[in-house]
Amino acid sequence: MDIQGNAASAAGDDPAHAWRHPQPVAADRDAAYLSLRQVRKVYQTRSGDVEAVGLANLDIAAGEFVSILGPSGCGKSTLLSMVGGLEGVTEGEIWLEGARVTGPRRDFGYIFQEPTLLPWQSVLDNVLFPIRTQKRPVAEYLDEAHRLLERVGLGEFKDRRPRELSGGMRQRVALCRGLINDPRLMLMDEPFSALDAISRDDMNLALVRLWDSYHKTALFVTHSIREAVFLADRVLVMTARPSRIVADLRLPFARPRDVTVQDTPEFNRICAWLRDQIQAGYARAAQASVE
Ligand SMILES: Nc1ncnc2c1ncn2[C@@H]1O[C@H](COP(=O)(O)OP(=O)(O)O)[C@@H](O)[C@H]1O
Ligand SMILES: [Mg+2]
Repeated sequence: MDIQGNAASAAGDDPAHAWRHPQPVAADRDAAYLSLRQVRKVYQTRSGDVEAVGLANLDIAAGEFVSILGPSGCGKSTLLSMVGGLEGVTEGEIWLEGARVTGPRRDFGYIFQEPTLLPWQSVLDNVLFPIRTQKRPVAEYLDEAHRLLERVGLGEFKDRRPRELSGGMRQRVALCRGLINDPRLMLMDEPFSALDAISRDDMNLALVRLWDSYHKTALFVTHSIREAVFLADRVLVMTARPSRIVADLRLPFARPRDVTVQDTPEFNRICAWLRDQIQAGYARAAQASVE
């Protein structure tokens, strides 16, 4: 298998043997929840073709939280957009629960770097926004909206306007909005990158707490190795363009996840190993560009 083969050659005799993801979850796509088969993406631009994703093969089980790490411009957002059906694939196939993803899906939750809240609406109404646009009965979702806001510590802020909130609080509202319609899949594209370090730690904790009880399948793109490891069940590393997945680790940390896991030697060993993988990816890309 390509993912495994690449990971092994990149790692050499690395100590990460125990964490390495076993064979992809399923040999046939029917058994996997989300499946990417030989997915490639080439953008045609005026200055020529841009190969944004070289090749992605991936199986993800229901309920897995998967972090994706990789250098800027390596195609992480493109990968997420293709999974969400916002961008078509150039080659290959994406399957979710046995059905091809061919267009945008309403039953996915999205969180981007900017929370993009409606400034004239209250926190509660912003959370309920997808319910209104999908013309679902708002009354049926009120309890869940309150529950989500309580969970992320915004229970008392439900009637405020976004301008009255900090950046971290706004992103919490976006998180609740992403979860309100009980999505099949959460797609998060660097949702905390614009936050200061303390708010970001805070958000990581809020998200991990949410996941301890929600167990959604999630793809989470980030530049932060520690964030990737703290939040996820599994971490993928993508190389520079044309990108490939060169490492795929299953993390050995239990849930509910405690913040002190970040102080353990194993956590730090895994972060160091991932940093090496990313740097090896840079080195390979630099080598390829001079050849
Ligand atoms: N709509 C587009 N049209 C043309 N090129 C694009 C488009 N979107 C992204 N790209 C290019 O594809 C590559 C990967 O982009 P992106 O997926 O945004 O990377 P990342 O999220 O990892 O930073 C980049 O070189 C980018 O310039
Ligand atoms: Mg991006």
